[in-house]
Amino acid sequence: MELFKGAYEGAVTATSYAEILLAKAIKEYGADCPVKYPETAYRLPVITALSGEEVNTIGDLAPILNRVRTTNIKEELNFENAKLNGEATLYAAEIIEALRYINGAKPDKYPYCGFIGDPILRKFGVPLVDQTIPGVAVIVGKGKDSKSTGKLVKDLQSKGIMIFLANEVIEQCIEENVKIGADFITFPLGNFTQVIHAVNFAFRAGLAFGGIPAGQRERAIEYQAKRVLAFVIQLGPNDIVKFAAEFGAIFMGFPIVTDQPVAEEIPDWYQSEPDYEKIGKLGLEMRGIKIKIVDIPVPITIGPAFEGETIRKKDAHVEFGGGRSTSFELVRMVDADQVEDGKIEVIGPEIDEMPEGSVFPLGVMVDVYGRKMQEDFEGVLERRIHYFINYGEGLWHVAQRNMMWVRIGKNAKELGFKIKDIGEILIAKFKSDYPAIIDRVQVTIITDKDVIEDKIKLAIEKYAARDARLKGLTDESVETYYSCTLCQSFAPNHVCIVSPERVGLCGAVSWLDAKASNEITPTGPNQPIEKGECTDEAKGSWKNLNEFLYTHSNRTVENVNFYTMMEDPMTSCGCFEAIMAILPLCNGVMLTTREHSGDTPCGMTFSALAGTCGGGVQTPGFMGIGRRYLCSSKFIPADGGLGRVVWLPKELKEYLGQDLVDAAVAAGLGADFVDKIADETVGITEEEILPFLEEKQHPALKMDPMM
Ligand code: SF4
Ligand code: NI
Ligand code: NI
Repeated sequence: MELFKGAYEGAVTATSYAEILLAKAIKEYGADCPVKYPETAYRLPVITALSGEEVNTIGDLAPILNRVRTTNIKEELNFENAKLNGEATLYAAEIIEALRYINGAKPDKYPYCGFIGDPILRKFGVPLVDQTIPGVAVIVGKGKDSKSTGKLVKDLQSKGIMIFLANEVIEQCIEENVKIGADFITFPLGNFTQVIHAVNFAFRAGLAFGGIPAGQRERAIEYQAKRVLAFVIQLGPNDIVKFAAEFGAIFMGFPIVTDQPVAEEIPDWYQSEPDYEKIGKLGLEMRGIKIKIVDIPVPITIGPAFEGETIRKKDAHVEFGGGRSTSFELVRMVDADQVEDGKIEVIGPEIDEMPEGSVFPLGVMVDVYGRKMQEDFEGVLERRIHYFINYGEGLWHVAQRNMMWVRIGKNAKELGFKIKDIGEILIAKFKSDYPAIIDRVQVTIITDKDVIEDKIKLAIEKYAARDARLKGLTDESVETYYSCTLCQSFAPNHVCIVSPERVGLCGAVSWLDAKASNEITPTGPNQPIEKGECTDEAKGSWKNLNEFLYTHSNRTVENVNFYTMMEDPMTSCGCFEAIMAILPLCNGVMLTTREHSGDTPCGMTFSALAGTCGGGVQTPGFMGIGRRYLCSSKFIPADGGLGRVVWLPKELKEYLGQDLVDAAVAAGLGADFVDKIADETVGITEEEILPFLEEKQHPALKMDPMM
């Protein structure tokens, strides 16, 4: 069969090519020259995942390539051998690519992104598990024309699909103004061999979230087949190396759909669809990806791909809030007779009455009625406004409550977007995402400068009442914590326990979120767990919680101490916002964040640290957390609390700002405590920061030893 023959010949060509490049690199740089990708703890992820061989130098690659050539490349043409040939091609591509990064080279030039580091992988952990990103498409080659190719990509974006692009399809997208880049979950990898970066991204999901040890080939592949919902769209003429690479994808469980005629299709694995309107849909079907379709009657595209889009001032048609005008957003629970389902009212000027570059006030009031709605959910739902508006292409939303700041881009205005359409988006999304608690929704949008001054009073009263209610929510004041097992789709043994004073480590699930989610889907990932008998007050251990953990972690975790990181700490899946590590010399702890790529006093970067404590295992002395947990009064109390923190990246200090100062004051550490915490400007080794801590009389230095 043509396909199998191509896979065989392509694998021979790819591995030979890798051999030539490898020999050349050894000659040029020497066999001892180190080889690694930037920002990853998984070396060469394809090799780490499949065979576990430790690659440090270029010389280490030669025996691996030889082994693969002799054991994998099989001349006899059948499906199984084609997959082995595909596997060999993955090795070859990984080797060819890794050589481009020798000596810290940065080989990828705009618009190409090349290798994608671990921080980006982790950033997309939660959207992948909660299926905001329902699947992954790898699009390779050159489409028949830019227009239909651009449309194909945009269509997948609007469905929320994560997209990897390689070859000319990238230029075609740029030509058609398709938005690409990490902000749009659409990665322009580069030329053909760079498609391996989609593969090593996928393999790292298994290593980072699945907790699969290096070299467990069968488990690594099973993880891909089961949990990474990816497929490949091959556009334009094929050649043997492409065939071989496609069988590499099939080896991982990812089907191929092509616009080219295929003499003999392999049902479910290799199919042809020349119609660009249908090719994406076929790929989704072959991989079993289900898309929840919400038809929203607005003239712009709506999808998570546009969440990260920023709209600069000069590209904005009109701007609201952000200190330039009064703004607020409010979700209110109301009685059935106070809401007319689907009604949208705009009080004040519409967009046509707003000149380009103008600033207007904006109030967004969402009134909901539902038999199962609770007042406690208002805040949770209100936070969704941020995401829903941001999903709009040409819409930008930051901050919340009466701080919110919105821009509507010129592009959206040109497409005919109206202020009223904000209401259309909110109504459609609230009703489709929360059918169990919302029966009726009505939206009032205020752009009139007099009316808003009146209505905002109501909002501010509501916020105050809500805050007062939340303040009373402490770990002690509730009998029930919630589990979160959402990440089990990627980290099968991981369970988060979320309490009022400890947000999930992804930062996205608070106790209230978990409670609301449980009301919405009683059998879902957030289960109430009555704490029951406390077996250790200080360390924070409860009988019922541990029983729940044990059964839901596939019997891998027997005990978790809630209030310490030194003994049986909470497990980490992989999508943590920050990681804590002990610093023995300073008698304290440090934290680093996904956003901070630099070195830290524990000797490891975020990526390296993440590699040691992900995948649902307990690693005493290290722990993944949500950023805000740092400001909680239950921040590792058994280890000394906030006073233990001796180093933070500047970025995190700035992000937490006043909240961190307030937390320090509440903990009795004084308002100047934050200034006693070292950061990268002070030093990035324990030796460098210790004199600073001594000079500032950091409280950690006087505490009991940590270990
Ligand atoms: Fe994943 Fe934990 Fe966040 Fe749930 S709370 S989504 S399990 S990280
Ligand atoms: Ni947007
Ligand atoms: Ni996770």
